[in-house]
Amino acid sequence: MNAPAKKEDFAVQAPAGVFAETVTSVEHYTDRLFRFRMTRPQEFRFRSGEFAMIGLMVGDKPVYRAYSIASPAWDEELEFFSIKVPDGPLTSHLQGIKPGDQVLMRKKPTGTLVLDALVPGRRLYMFSTGTGIAPFASLIRDPETFEKFEEVILTHTCRDVAELKYGFDLVDEIRNHEFLNEIVGDKLRHYATVTREEYPFKGRITDLMTNGKFFADLGLPPLDPEIDRGMICGSTAMLKDTKEILEAAGLTEGANNKPAEFVIERAFVG
Ligand code: A2P
Repeated sequence: MNAPAKKEDFAVQAPAGVFAETVTSVEHYTDRLFRFRMTRPQEFRFRSGEFAMIGLMVGDKPVYRAYSIASPAWDEELEFFSIKVPDGPLTSHLQGIKPGDQVLMRKKPTGTLVLDALVPGRRLYMFSTGTGIAPFASLIRDPETFEKFEEVILTHTCRDVAELKYGFDLVDEIRNHEFLNEIVGDKLRHYATVTREEYPFKGRITDLMTNGKFFADLGLPPLDPEIDRGMICGSTAMLKDTKEILEAAGLTEGANNKPAEFVIERAFVG
């Protein structure tokens, strides 16, 4: 008779250059959005705002997609915020993960939404739509962001109010966190809007900037390339439209090897 199967018998054999990590929690927000947390290998280092390639074995092949790491660099676990695409090669499977399951992660993180890619400034705007809030979830939990900037404005626009919950929970977590709350204080402002449901803050962030409502709501002056810095994460169209607004205000796009006034990165979509 065969010995009964042990849990380890089902463990994923990670290919070279890849970690196999264990899911510790999963939270579903809507039928389109969920987040999960998993163990972090001790040797895995990243800068807050970077992304990693996350994957699962589908049949006998690994399938990977780029995911911004939503947890800060100091966190002992890793967090990700994901869309669920019904026919998505990865997310149609990933949305079914449970605590104890294993997820693959390639060893090298990368990305442009990092503090090092910006020249010094006074105010940092983080513009996000949908799961594009993920890299900012990392950066607003990193004390370095608040050492470098006097004011941090996180904007998050989704189709409906239920999709904003991840962002509201995140800001609540910071407010209730013993050390972070002290560091963040009143430097962080959260501006959440929806486009497809009635809500006091309604509209695309691009429209709300162009018509001035965004600045009026927060009591902020127009964008100023001397003191304002920007990070943008969303769909291709949202990146293009937001970038145009920042460029019209005189800000220029930077990169890791050429820091400037704003940086952009496409949010995960597949
Ligand atoms: P809208 O409802 O008007 O399309 P999605 O979930 O499809 O990625 O969209 C997330 C949010 O991004 C939605 O509120 C959507 O508004 C908004 N959005 C889509 N395209 C743009 C764009 N070009 N500029 C700014 N916001 C956009």
